Amino acid sequence: IPTINHKDLLSLKDYSTNEILDLIYLAIELKKPENKHLPLLKGKVLGMIFEKSSTRTRVSFEAGMLHLGGHAMYLSTRDIQMGRGETIADTARVLSGYLDSIMIRTFDQSTVEELAINSSVPVINGLTDDYHPCQILADLMTIYEHFGTFSGKKLTYIGDGNNVAHSLMIGAAKVGMDCTIAAPAAYFPKPEMVELAQMIASQTGAKIDIIEDPVEAIEGSDVVYTDVWASMGQEQETLERMKHFTDYQVNDELISHANPNFIFMHCLPAHREEEVTTAVLEGPHSVVFQEAENRLHAQKALLVSLMR
Ligand code: CP
Ligand code: NVA
Repeated sequence: IPTINHKDLLSLKDYSTNEILDLIYLAIELKKPENKHLPLLKGKVLGMIFEKSSTRTRVSFEAGMLHLGGHAMYLSTRDIQMGRGETIADTARVLSGYLDSIMIRTFDQSTVEELAINSSVPVINGLTDDYHPCQILADLMTIYEHFGTFSGKKLTYIGDGNNVAHSLMIGAAKVGMDCTIAAPAAYFPKPEMVELAQMIASQTGAKIDIIEDPVEAIEGSDVVYTDVWASMGQEQETLERMKHFTDYQVNDELISHANPNFIFMHCLPAHREEEVTTAVLEGPHSVVFQEAENRLHAQKALLVSLMR
């Protein structure tokens, strides 16, 4: 079990390259059928606060805790007092008395940080407007399973410079994998995130590029990744965004510029025929369901490392 020198997982930027790699190696061990029900977290309880919808995050954390001999509790902000104005700090202190860890999916990254500062138990970021670190742990695991290495590999993310794009840049930089983001200029990732990723990359030998041209971006790619054009909380911008992203659809024409053995990834849920065609999503290069399954294994590794 890897030693993680942090109480929480708020963003992958806080984790060292070795911590991330150790989590991936443990996840691969835990994925073996004979290790599925190791009771490493017997009697431990995870609380999961959701302020946004979820299929994968909710179900994989809950199933993962059960596999490990513990229990998980779904806490919608529509039901708990936090949704009626009880402060994050008070919620954190109360829940720390009952739980062994808290996962939260919310809007502002500052909410997760405030929860972590006021909790005595580990806090896990299950997606904010800025980051999606659990997703990227599973993604890196999937890439590692497929290629057996990160060095010399290039990931291209095509689409909105959103939470997933931010975490991908940071995760790629940490493991020394080149990462190019192609987006319309108005939807580039946040400049401070790009700077951060480039700073990390300068230490690991990776290259992080942000460009507008999707064809140029995809040249020489081993991993092609996309995500929805309108994230949770941006539903009212959907039509406006569709206009800007028409040239960014991952389709047969675009992927013809990638390396012959590239893999296609998507955090899901997908909007078919928008950011990706069904032909690509269901095509021979797609690993999206392996990627989705790996959420379970990567998070089990994370839970074990943070809670023991
Ligand atoms: N990829 C992901 O986080 O999916 P959910 O929104 O279903 O949890
Ligand atoms: N960028 C998407 C990811 C969903 C898993 C969102 O934030 O809605």
